Amino acid sequence: MSSHRIDHAGNQSGTPPSDPRIQAKLGIPIKNIIAVASGKGGVGKSTVSVNLAVALAQTGAQVGLLDADIYGPNIPIMMGVDEMPPVKAGKLAPAEAHGVRFMSMGFLMPPNQALIWRGPMLHKAIQQLFTDVRWEELDYLIVDLPPGTGDAQLSLAQIAPLSGGLIVTMPQMVSVADARRGAAAFQQLEVPILGVIENMSGEIFGSGGGATAAQELNTALLGVIALDADISVGGDQGLPIVAVKPESAAGQTFRQLSQTIVDRLRALSGGSQPQLKII
Ligand SMILES: Nc1ncnc2c1ncn2[C@@H]1O[C@H](COP(=O)(O)OP(=O)(O)OP(=O)(O)O)[C@@H](O)[C@H]1O
Ligand SMILES: [Mg+2]
Repeated sequence: MSSHRIDHAGNQSGTPPSDPRIQAKLGIPIKNIIAVASGKGGVGKSTVSVNLAVALAQTGAQVGLLDADIYGPNIPIMMGVDEMPPVKAGKLAPAEAHGVRFMSMGFLMPPNQALIWRGPMLHKAIQQLFTDVRWEELDYLIVDLPPGTGDAQLSLAQIAPLSGGLIVTMPQMVSVADARRGAAAFQQLEVPILGVIENMSGEIFGSGGGATAAQELNTALLGVIALDADISVGGDQGLPIVAVKPESAAGQTFRQLSQTIVDRLRALSGGSQPQLKII
């Protein structure tokens, strides 16, 4: 059996890196948990999480996506599934779309009911996303965090060992300050920062904030995603751009980004995994 995989672009992604702390702590066979954060809302965390998860799944990896946004869980809409997944033998089975298994805080909350989350409630709810869901073997679990650097980020890091954190920012300087806050929370929680992603780059919002933030945080700029109406329409329709238009500029950017992130994780895990070359 071959341990390597070939993605749509013909790139070989190799054996996924593996973070043994996850299995040890949670007893779930998940190799890597990647948290997606930003200091500020509306910068594109959920959009990046969804497209990244789908792009990773396209390489043949087993991918899960966790919507830990208690305030506005919108992953089900972006994935095009809004039904609560079935309970089997006392556990929830993750929903599935576009090759990705996912679970949303939205499935655990009564619809159209604004909940006031107190710290312990939030902590318990995040815990349930791990303990009450039948996650099977996953190479990557992407966690979409709510905006800000509050309780959710803290609870998540306490509950699950995070292999790395991604910071999404917009091109403007004001978002750079927010990115710094998002990164500071990861640093305090001792979560390695994989790098910064600049989203909605282009003529309207400008560009360069991602590079500035990466430089200030002494980390890498992993990718720059253009402001593109197709990305937004895809999100609203439950059709992630990388799933429906993998060859579009945005599709290619997300696929490249997923590869860069795997490379960063591999470097973090000591680079002990064999790197297979295309012959
Ligand atoms: N590159 C892009 N081009 C065009 N529209 C985008 C892009 N990225 C995100 N959007 C749109 O911007 C809006 C906010 O994106 P998204 O919901 O992913 O942000 P978020 O950071 O998860 O927000 P929140 O903080 O509320 O969770 C959405 O309508 C989304 O479709
Ligand atoms: Mg979001």
